[in-house]
Amino acid sequence: MRNNNNQRSPKPQTFELHPHSIKYLNSGHVWVTKDRFTELFPQELCLIGGGKEKDSPKWIFINDPHHPQVKARRWSQFSNSKMKQANFWHVFEERLAAAFKFRMVQQLQEERENFYLCFGEADEVPGLFIQKLGEVILIQSYCNYWKYFEKIVFNIVKRVAQHKYPMEPLQYYFQSRNKNQKIQLDYFNYKNEIEYKAPQKEFTLKEFDLTYHCNLGRSYDFGIYTDMSYIRKKVGELISKESSVLNLYSYTGAFSLYALKQGAGEVHSVDLSENYLDTLEKNIAINELKKETHTSHQKDVLRAVDEFQKQQKKFDFIICDPPSASSDGKKVTSALKNYSDLLPKLAKLSAPDGHIAIFLNTHTVNWNKFEKTIMPIAEKCKLTKMRRFNLGEDCKSLKGFHEGDYLKGILFKIK
Ligand SMILES: C[S@@+](CC[C@H](N)C(=O)[O-])C[C@H]1O[C@@H](n2cnc3c(N)ncnc32)[C@H](O)[C@@H]1O
Repeated sequence: MRNNNNQRSPKPQTFELHPHSIKYLNSGHVWVTKDRFTELFPQELCLIGGGKEKDSPKWIFINDPHHPQVKARRWSQFSNSKMKQANFWHVFEERLAAAFKFRMVQQLQEERENFYLCFGEADEVPGLFIQKLGEVILIQSYCNYWKYFEKIVFNIVKRVAQHKYPMEPLQYYFQSRNKNQKIQLDYFNYKNEIEYKAPQKEFTLKEFDLTYHCNLGRSYDFGIYTDMSYIRKKVGELISKESSVLNLYSYTGAFSLYALKQGAGEVHSVDLSENYLDTLEKNIAINELKKETHTSHQKDVLRAVDEFQKQQKKFDFIICDPPSASSDGKKVTSALKNYSDLLPKLAKLSAPDGHIAIFLNTHTVNWNKFEKTIMPIAEKCKLTKMRRFNLGEDCKSLKGFHEGDYLKGILFKIK
C-alpha cells in the first residue's frame, strides 16, 4: 500500500481564458463571466487555474459551474501550493480576520448593531458577505462553492468571530439560494452541527438609536439594508425639523424612521408591499415615534406621485430608492429608464430649496452611464447636483471592479 505522504497531489486543472477576461483581470476585475472559454471549465465546485495560456496560469479561481453568469471568481495569483485545500482555507481564515479587524478599527459598533464584517470581492472573499446583526452573524453566499463547503465556512467564521467578539453569545446563520433559486437558511448550533432549513428568526436591531424589526429566512432582505446605513446617516443629517419628507419605494421605512426621529413635520412612505409597510408601522410603534406625522401609501410609486401632483403637494426632501427593475403590476421597467419619467415629476413635487436623493441599485450600470443618463434630465428640470452617495465605511470597494460599487445615489437641489 502506498504511503499517503508519497501520494502526489492531482495536477491542478488549468484553462485558457478569453482575451477580454484577461484584459479585465489585469485591470483589477475579479470575475470570469460566461463565454465560449468557460464552457470547458469543470462541472464541479473546485479551484482552477487560468490565464492567457493553459499551461502557465496566472491566477487561481473559484469555479462555479452552476452560476448562470459568473463562472469563476479570482482567488489569488497562481501557485501549486495555493491550490491545495489546506492552504486555501488557511488564507480564507487570514482574509476573514483582516476583514473583521477592519470593521473593529472603524468602531462602527458604537452607533449601529448592523454592519458588514466581510464584503465579498472587496475583502478578497469573492461572493461571500457576512453581516453582524447584533448577536446574529449572517453569512450570505452568492457563490455556490461556499455553500458546498458550508461546514468549513461555519467553523472558520465562528473561530474568527469568537476571537474578535469573545464576550458575545453569537448565533450563526448561512443564507444561500438553492438550484431552484429558493432561499435556504441554515443554522450552526452550539454543538457545531448544521441545522439545515432553520426556522425563520425574528429579532430587533439598533441603528443610529432606532430599533428595527427583522426577520431572517423569508428572503435575503430581512428588514433593513445594512449597505444603506452609511447613506442613511448622510441623508438623515440633511433632514431638518419641520421638513416634509416623501420616501418612495420605502421598503420597511428606514429613511422614514430616520426622518421622524429628526422631527420631520410630515413623512409619507410609498411601497407596493403591504407586508413591508406593516413592518414600517411596527417600527414606528417600537420606536415610539409620532405616528400622526406619518402616512403609508400602499401603491405603485408612479400612481402615488401623480396623485400628489394633483393635490399640489410639495416636499422638502424626496428619497427615491427603486429596485433595479420594478413592475406596476403590468409591465416591468428598469429603474434607470424609469427616471426619465419620474425625475421631472419629482422636481415638480419639490418645495423651493427642496432636496431630491435618487438611487440606483444594480451592478449592471456603472457611474458613468448613470450620470450620463440622469444629468440631462436633471438639467432640464433645473436640478443642481449637490453630491454623490456611495457605499461607505464597512462596505468596501475594489478598484477596477465596478460591479462591487453597485449602489449609486445623487443628491439634487432645486435651483
Ligand atoms: C430597494 S428596496 C428600497 C429600500 C429602502 N429605500 C431602504 O433603504 O430600506 C425597493 C422597494 O420597492 C418596492 N417596490 C417595487 N416596485 C414598486 C412600485 N412599482 N411601486 C412602489 N414600490 C415598489 C419593493 O416592495 C421594495 O420594498
